Amino acid sequence: MGLVEAIDLYKSYDEKAKEKSYAVQGVTLTIKQGETLGLVGESGCGKSTFGKLLLQLEKQTSGKVLFKGQDISNYNFHKMRPIRRNIQMIFQNSTNLFNPYFIVKQILMEPVNNYFLHESDAEKEKRVRAILHSVGLDESYLTRYGNELSGGQRQRIGIARALILHPEFVVCDEVVSSVDYTMRNQILQLLMDLKEAFGLTYLFISHDLSAVQKVCDRVAVMYMGKVMEILPSINARIKHPYTKALLDATLDVNPRNREKQTMSLKETAESESAIANEGCPYQNRCLLAQDICKIHAPKLKNIGDDHAVACHVVDH
Ligand SMILES: Nc1ncnc2c1ncn2[C@@H]1O[C@H](COP(=O)(O)OP(=O)(O)O)[C@@H](O)[C@H]1O
Ligand code: SF4
Ligand SMILES: [Mg+2]
Repeated sequence: MGLVEAIDLYKSYDEKAKEKSYAVQGVTLTIKQGETLGLVGESGCGKSTFGKLLLQLEKQTSGKVLFKGQDISNYNFHKMRPIRRNIQMIFQNSTNLFNPYFIVKQILMEPVNNYFLHESDAEKEKRVRAILHSVGLDESYLTRYGNELSGGQRQRIGIARALILHPEFVVCDEVVSSVDYTMRNQILQLLMDLKEAFGLTYLFISHDLSAVQKVCDRVAVMYMGKVMEILPSINARIKHPYTKALLDATLDVNPRNREKQTMSLKETAESESAIANEGCPYQNRCLLAQDICKIHAPKLKNIGDDHAVACHVVDH
């Protein structure tokens, strides 16, 4: 049993439309206790939607989400409350979501007030100071407003707010996408240190395969709402044609080529969303495509050593 499990999860944002389109299409995935599972894929492929479904911040169209074996996918607000503090999310710009008239102390106090109702003010403040310290900021930040912080400091406050209730599972959604290279490494290191200190399990979402390879134990690759490949480790040999294309786009050192490759991946994804209703979602771009790829969608298949691939041609 995993800590968090998605079972045949679907999400459509246009439920009333005749021809539904799905942001997440039949994803079954287990996140093991204590691991960092990477989730990569281009913008718009459904990563954030999947993260929000796991945390029940969005309701699935069908399928289930299990947390510690409990099916939480139809819990009401009341039943969800004790689970909610255990499952948290860190966003790309977490602090944008905070009240701009709040100082850091108020931002961090909000979840504490919500969950530690019976504690004294002194006890609650102790929690706030402790978490601030854990993310590498001193007490002078308590009285600052969000707009008085640098990008990196804001990200640290976002992390502090997500961790102040001591959750077990955290979805990190593009947390290093808007910071520079040095800051990126510092934030990644901080997340790894906090994982050790708090015994966390992460789903680490990023469009950047190289960031994911730095911090993740396993990596799931998503394309048009489906999981194409699950790599059992960062050193595993990539099998799926799409994962290879994604890696080439991220590793190309020439920024112009990289941009071109990413663009063409994106264009293909957009044009395919209109036409590839049957068969493999990657068929129009794939150099290995066969007739069968146009008729049957490949299922995610375990090819040994915990490595799974959804492809008719390279599934062995
Ligand atoms: N709240 C929403 N309402 C309608 N469509 C949405 C909403 N959120 C995401 N989508 C659509 O769902 C698809 C997946 O989006 P998202 O999960 O944000 O992808 P990613 O995080 O990989 O960029 C996209 O086509 C996006 O436009
Ligand atoms: S199933 Fe066919 S089209 Fe899809 S990735 Fe494999 S070879 Fe390419
Ligand atoms: Mg996203």
